[in-house]
Amino acid sequence: MSAKRQINLGVFVYPYGHSRGGWLLPTVPKNAATDVEYHRELARTAERGTLDFMFYADGPVFQDIGGNGRAPHGVNKLEPVTLITALSCATSKLGFIATVSTSYSEPFNVARQFAAADHISKGRIGWNVVTTDSQHAAANFGGETIAPEDRYARAREFVDVAFGLWDSFEPGAVTADRESAVYLDVSKVHPLNFQGKHLSVRGPLDVERSPQGRPVIAQAGGSEDGLELAAMSADVVFSVANNPEKARETRLSIRERAAKYNRSPDEIKFLPGLSIIAGATDAEAQAKLDLLVNTMPPAMGMASLSMFLGVDLSSVALDEPFPVEILPEKPKASSALFEAYVAFVKQGKTLRQLIRLFAEKQLGNGVTGSAQRVADTLEEWLAAEAADGFILMFPMLPTGLEDFVTFVVPELRRRGIFREDYESDHLRGNLGLRYPENRHMRR
Ligand SMILES: Cc1cc2nc3c(=O)[nH]c(=O)nc-3n(C[C@H](O)[C@H](O)[C@H](O)COP(=O)(O)O)c2cc1C
Repeated sequence: MSAKRQINLGVFVYPYGHSRGGWLLPTVPKNAATDVEYHRELARTAERGTLDFMFYADGPVFQDIGGNGRAPHGVNKLEPVTLITALSCATSKLGFIATVSTSYSEPFNVARQFAAADHISKGRIGWNVVTTDSQHAAANFGGETIAPEDRYARAREFVDVAFGLWDSFEPGAVTADRESAVYLDVSKVHPLNFQGKHLSVRGPLDVERSPQGRPVIAQAGGSEDGLELAAMSADVVFSVANNPEKARETRLSIRERAAKYNRSPDEIKFLPGLSIIAGATDAEAQAKLDLLVNTMPPAMGMASLSMFLGVDLSSVALDEPFPVEILPEKPKASSALFEAYVAFVKQGKTLRQLIRLFAEKQLGNGVTGSAQRVADTLEEWLAAEAADGFILMFPMLPTGLEDFVTFVVPELRRRGIFREDYESDHLRGNLGLRYPENRHMRR
């Protein structure tokens, strides 16, 4: 057995890949958004690579982020708890994490759904807890927007309630004893009687405790309230910190907060997002990026970049040195990525070259190259204590995931930082997390 620290790897799935132009490539089926067979195939690939989980983001809203129907991401998606439950039936080890909003749902429903999914998957389910900052989403639920501080206050109560509901049945509550003709030992089933500022839930839940005790909890909030919720409840934290220094800071901040909630910092796995294009060689990976960028109409890359920079780029020439003076002094949101773009164009680069860089970096941390190059980058983050693993974002699917499993996974195994085989049948076990004790069993 290797003495080296093992990393955890999840895949952040957008069916056509993270790039807005990914769907234009002929390598992804046109119906990828809604075809369960396509998603099953992705899951089988991820399982072949012994990855920890696939993750589906969500918001209960139609959101045309590409503008005028140019990109599939927010406009055509399967409700993720339903989807991951189906996917779990096509796999036996891979975990699945689905996003559900605490602002636009009720905890009794959510606790039931995830308990059912955890039973059906035999212990491989996680819930990404989000508070959904979207007025458009609010309009689907009566129209009332929730103030940011209330969103997180409700989320804290919501998670508290869910944890309580998942503990409703003590072990041994279901006796199914034919001799005495007693199915359930009702003394081992506990109502919750939760009365909070935002929520009121009596309980108990109407299903026994699921194989993992409770589903794995994921969280990705970047604000103070978000970090606090993560420290209180999350097993897994996703982050878009776009360099190892920033990630190290955020990881440390969450680890330090854990003690307040009687938790060990090692119970929280911090996974920054990395956008990856891998190939057999650096040149092959670069060619894949070229193909993606060249397939996208420049207007599409330009629109995304305009949105990021907060400047209208429609009149900028594509192949002449980029006019640095049109950039704002400060980014819309403080961002190391913005500084990197400014430095890039100051070298006399063109808009086309900038669009390419933007496509490569996606959410911030991009690496394009051979297995060695990708593995080196992952190891740099680990050496900086900036990560316990990564959430992988592929600009193109299914090819990005296939390439990662073919090229990078063997290299990570060779370096002794990634498993040869699954350690557990449960997501919690593969993440190295302990089984949570039922509160009613505490003496
Ligand atoms: C990897 C990752 C995945 C996320 N997935 C979702 C999602 O599916 N739905 C959502 O509403 N927000 C999602 N978010 C946004 C966060 O939940 C959070 O709202 C955001 O980081 C802002 O932080 P704050 O809510 O603490 O202000 C995600 C963030 C990250 C980094």
